[in-house]
Amino acid sequence: MNNPLTILGIAGSLRKGSYNRAALRTAQQLVPDGARIEAFDLDGIPGFNQDEEAHPPAKVTQLKARIRAADAVLLVTPEYNYSIPGVLKNAIDWASRPYGDSAWDGKPVAIMGVSVGFAGTARAQYHLRQVFVFLNMFPLNQPEVMIANAAERFDAQGNLTDENSKKLIRRLLEALVRWTQHHERGRQAASA
Ligand SMILES: Cc1cc2nc3c(=O)[nH]c(=O)nc-3n(C[C@H](O)[C@H](O)[C@H](O)COP(=O)(O)O)c2cc1C
Repeated sequence: MNNPLTILGIAGSLRKGSYNRAALRTAQQLVPDGARIEAFDLDGIPGFNQDEEAHPPAKVTQLKARIRAADAVLLVTPEYNYSIPGVLKNAIDWASRPYGDSAWDGKPVAIMGVSVGFAGTARAQYHLRQVFVFLNMFPLNQPEVMIANAAERFDAQGNLTDENSKKLIRRLLEALVRWTQHHERGRQAASA
C-alpha cells in the first residue's frame, strides 16, 4: 500500500464545465489525512478497438499503469440515458483488456455522481456495480453519493457549495480508506 494511500479519481465527463469533474476536485480537497486522490483525465482516449488491445494507445497504457499503481479507485460518473456515459465505459473496457491483463482486477472502488435530474445518477451507478462483478472489483456499498439537481448545488464558478453533499463525499472517502485498508490486510493475510 502506498503512503499516503493513493486513490485514482476518474470523472466520466469531458465537458469543461462538468459538474462531475468539479465534484472530483471537491473530493480531492475533502480526502482524509493519510490519503490523496490523483485525478486521471479521460480526454484523448479513442474508441475501443479490439484489434489494438494488445498494443493500445499510449493514453490507455498510462491509464492501466495509474490504476495498477493506485490502492483504490474513485469513479465520478454522470448519467447518460439512464446508464454509464460512453466515455467512462470505453475507458473501463480498454483497461480491462486483453483478457487476463485487466488493470481493474481486485481493486477497491467507490462511486459518486452528479446529475441535473432528480435521480442523481442512481441508474448509472447501479450499472457500474454490475460491471464490477465481471471485473472482480470490490465496490464500497455505502454511503451512496448521488447528487441530484446539480444546478442548485454548485455556484456560478462550478464549485460544489452544498454542505450536505460535501459531508456525504467526506464520509464516502473515509469509508473508502477503511475499505481499502481492510482489503490490504486480507491480501497480506492470504499471502503470509
Ligand atoms: C447524452 C446525455 C444523456 C443524458 N441522460 C441523462 C439521464 O439519463 N439522467 C440524468 O439525470 N441526466 C441526464 N443527462 C443530463 C446530465 O445529468 C447533465 O448533462 C450533466 O451535467 C452531465 O454531467 P457533467 O456536468 O459532469 O458533464 C444527459 C445528458 C446527456 C448529454
